[in-house]
Amino acid sequence: MAKITFSIFIIVPMIGLSLAADTLGTDSSIRHGETLVSSDLIFELGFFTPGNSSMSYLGIWYKFSPNTVVWVANRNNPLVDHSGVLTFNNVGNLVVLNQSSGVVWSSKSSRFLQNPIAQLLNSGNLVLRDNSVSSSDEAYSWQSFDYPSDTVLATMKLVLNLKTGFERRLTAWKSMDDPSPGDYVHVLDYSQGLPQYEVVQVHVHSKKHRSGQWNGVQFVGVPFVETPAEVFQFVYNETEISLMFEVQDRQLFTMMKLNTLGVLQIFVLNRSRSATWNVMLEFPRDVCDLYGRCGANAICSGTLCECVKGFLPKSPDEWAVLNFSNGCRRTIPTNCSKGEGFWEIKKVKLPDVLEVTLNRSMSLKECKDECLKNCSCTAYANSDIRGGGSGCLMWFGDLIDMRALEEGNRVQTLYVRVSASELGIHTYAN
Ligand SMILES: *[C@@H]1O[C@H](CO)[C@@H](O)[C@H](O)[C@H]1NC(C)=O
Ligand SMILES: *[C@@H]1O[C@H](CO)[C@@H](O)[C@H](O)[C@H]1NC(C)=O
Ligand SMILES: *[C@@H]1O[C@H](CO)[C@@H](O)[C@H](O)[C@H]1NC(C)=O
Ligand SMILES: *[C@@H]1O[C@H](CO)[C@@H](O)[C@H](O)[C@H]1NC(C)=O
Ligand SMILES: *[C@@H]1O[C@H](CO)[C@@H](O)[C@H](O)[C@H]1NC(C)=O
Ligand SMILES: *[C@@H]1O[C@H](CO)[C@@H](O)[C@H](O)[C@H]1NC(C)=O
Ligand SMILES: *[C@@H]1O[C@H](CO)[C@@H](O)[C@H](O)[C@H]1NC(C)=O
Ligand SMILES: *[C@@H]1O[C@H](CO)[C@@H](O)[C@H](O)[C@H]1NC(C)=O
Repeated sequence: MAKITFSIFIIVPMIGLSLAADTLGTDSSIRHGETLVSSDLIFELGFFTPGNSSMSYLGIWYKFSPNTVVWVANRNNPLVDHSGVLTFNNVGNLVVLNQSSGVVWSSKSSRFLQNPIAQLLNSGNLVLRDNSVSSSDEAYSWQSFDYPSDTVLATMKLVLNLKTGFERRLTAWKSMDDPSPGDYVHVLDYSQGLPQYEVVQVHVHSKKHRSGQWNGVQFVGVPFVETPAEVFQFVYNETEISLMFEVQDRQLFTMMKLNTLGVLQIFVLNRSRSATWNVMLEFPRDVCDLYGRCGANAICSGTLCECVKGFLPKSPDEWAVLNFSNGCRRTIPTNCSKGEGFWEIKKVKLPDVLEVTLNRSMSLKECKDECLKNCSCTAYANSDIRGGGSGCLMWFGDLIDMRALEEGNRVQTLYVRVSASELGIHTYAN
């Protein structure tokens, strides 16, 4: 008897939940405490108050994990009370209004919608379209996936459109209590023609860590993770550079977040097993992932730094007490004289592409000859490792941010210029 009563008690709120809609039309609005729920009941949109803050924000979170906020609308313009309302303005944009009907956030689409409708999709994407057209990427006049906060969700492409320059990028929260843009951004560096992802500390303009450049197979410094449940896809073609992951198992959830300290974390949660998020992978993994930890011309390995062969610590006293910041200098300077050559450094995260030139059609032999001819060329490598290697990347100046890689099968080799006498010394030593 008691059991039956209990079941009825449970069923009542369930009916309430099942009525929750995933769409918002012009005839309705959302206030604090009201939400939109995606049709598969995974994502929820509404007003929330993060951590110990008293401010209120419009956001999207996992329904089964309400503290896991994945998107914030008015992150720059918090509501000071619980009187916010999400509605449409008269040109069909979504707006969040405060108590005095001031606009604290707007979807700012330039397309005018006669009959606008907003929908929270099963992907966690909030989209805006005209009610008369069916759901498709082209139909959206605005979508939250175009304006990421600190989180990438499955199927959400982190894209740089090379035709329009439009880029989706992550910006960390200021703190756990404050979703306003913090100190760290995750950006795609494409300045030298080779894509690499970086986390930059904005206010001091300094790189914190980088993936290393795309070598046709992977980002040089990122371990190659293949799991049957998650599929990562990287696209680099004439129209776009993009990164996306998809999850095969409906009970498995994955997201990538840039946390308040600039750490990039990939979380996974298996709903058949537990309700807690586990960190599957994070960046930086160790001290060697910290940008430029070893200074110039040195390779990070374990907890230590080693000068490239043919180089010596610039400040031996500092180096001896494990202060590597000054890096290394050449033992014998190169001067472009006859007989100069190269040391081969295997399994290395190639140096940052600060001062480089790239030629995709040159062979390794041509690359070597070209580097030898130019007195300021300090190193070279293949730019693409597929099919035995192709392309030529040449470095000028110091070599920054290298680390030893354990992985054996996808080797990347760097050739560092050394003087004739240096080559001679080591030839005799061998
Ligand atoms: C909220 O405040 C309490 C007490 O000061 C603190 O222990 C907790 O870490 C804070 N939570 C967040 C998310 O900042
Ligand atoms: C409401 O928003 C407007 C525009 O952002 C602002 O000027 C006004 O001070 C806000 N009012 C309250 C009560 O927060
Ligand atoms: C680039 O890749 C995207 C995604 O796969 C595709 O939609 C687009 O057509 C491609 N562009 C070119 C020029 O191949
Ligand atoms: C999720 O957990 C279930 C139950 O433990 C297990 O059978 C399944 O293989 C897990 N899925 C993945 C992708 O790990
Ligand atoms: C490391 O060496 C640099 C250069 O000599 C110096 O400026 C810095 O203060 C040293 N750092 C520490 C922690 O000693
Ligand atoms: C790349 O190298 C090839 C072969 O040396 C040369 O013909 C071509 O002009 C180079 N391209 C550029 C853009 O320098
Ligand atoms: C060496 O290469 C650099 C960078 O491409 C270039 O600016 C410089 O003119 C080259 N020097 C010579 C002597 O070719
Ligand atoms: C170039 O450097 C070598 C040492 O590597 C030295 O023997 C030679 O004299 C130098 N040549 C010039 C022109 O400075």
